[in-house]
Amino acid sequence: YHSETNPNGIINLGTAENKLNNVEMLSKLNDPKVSTVTAEQLLYGPNPGSDRLRIEIAKLLNRYLKPKVSFTMENICVGNGCGPLTNLCGEVLFDHGDAVLVPGPYYGGFEADLKYGSRVYTIPVPHCEGDCLKVDEAALEKALKNANRPIKGIIIANPNNPFGRCYSAEQLLLFCNFAKSHGLIVICDEIYGLSTWRDITEENIEEGKCIEDYHYLPDPENTHGLWGFSKDFCLNGLRIGCTISYSKTVMAAMQKICFLTCIPTNIDNILVNILSDVEWTDQFILNNNRKLLKNYTHLTNSLNAHNIPYVKGDSGFFIYIDLHQAGIDELDLWMKLLEGGVYISPSQAFFSEDKASERNWFRMCFAVEQDELNLSLDRLYK
Ligand SMILES: Cc1ncc(COP(=O)(O)O)c(C=O)c1O
Repeated sequence: YHSETNPNGIINLGTAENKLNNVEMLSKLNDPKVSTVTAEQLLYGPNPGSDRLRIEIAKLLNRYLKPKVSFTMENICVGNGCGPLTNLCGEVLFDHGDAVLVPGPYYGGFEADLKYGSRVYTIPVPHCEGDCLKVDEAALEKALKNANRPIKGIIIANPNNPFGRCYSAEQLLLFCNFAKSHGLIVICDEIYGLSTWRDITEENIEEGKCIEDYHYLPDPENTHGLWGFSKDFCLNGLRIGCTISYSKTVMAAMQKICFLTCIPTNIDNILVNILSDVEWTDQFILNNNRKLLKNYTHLTNSLNAHNIPYVKGDSGFFIYIDLHQAGIDELDLWMKLLEGGVYISPSQAFFSEDKASERNWFRMCFAVEQDELNLSLDRLYK
């Protein structure tokens, strides 16, 4: 779809991309002071990212995620996106054939990132009835007991994908304590961690809600994070993420094999130049969250008017909507929507359970200009 060159094309609200800040980001990236390539950058750089970049990322995450124990560059290993770094975690933390629990429905990339490269398998754990962000100990125990592979960890996304919402502090601690008591490793993917907009005000944005935020971690040696630039900085195509860990052993192992995931030196330099402009960075994040809240409010007003139920969001840029009222099978509806010119992601892309209440939900991204959002809604309601 393009409003001028392809107005009848399919609007893509299925891929998790944020297009609301292209003007701001492009003017920063195309500033010669930010992007000029120097002779030094023609040489090999440090595989885990430059010290300068790791320092800047640690400062940024300390500012927004407010971990109880501040991050330093020693806790950060930079790489070419959270997807490849999830695979790196799989290689470093587990053995081929191991499995990890994952609260479902879940971000489909986890399955591919862990399975295709590191041969680690995902085992979904159902949420409590009536609250998709609540997973109780009994469900975790049951999944552990019934698994046909050795379970070695838990992977979660917080803010959650596909729900666009943060877990509660209690829930995060439940995951961590459960993991500790069963000797499991926790991987927490916080790629939407700076796109939290629930209590946004004129002056401030809500402090990020991350696993490190609430409490001293029950088992810091076995709890590892992921964060990246794809979502919070709208830079999917540049391919940059990082692993975050307090464990010296895990960091040492990652730094040994991260030559497989290292980022280009000029991108490293561009990111240093962006993040070291703290005023610009903070303004960018604040503006982004204001725009996300505005689009979310606009979208939910419209969904309410059409009696379409949805999971209430507070972060990220998609919403999980319930299209049972269409009265047809999920994949048939998905095809119908594509034919009608709008692409949104069906619950099966998130490995939803094969039961009526879990199917016919769709994840819809809303980080597009309002004209495009309105046109998508027109196509959806038809
Ligand atoms: C939860 C989650 N993790 C990881 C990724 C992939 O991130 P990256 O672009 O850094 O590889 C995505 C992209 O949609 C995501 O939603």
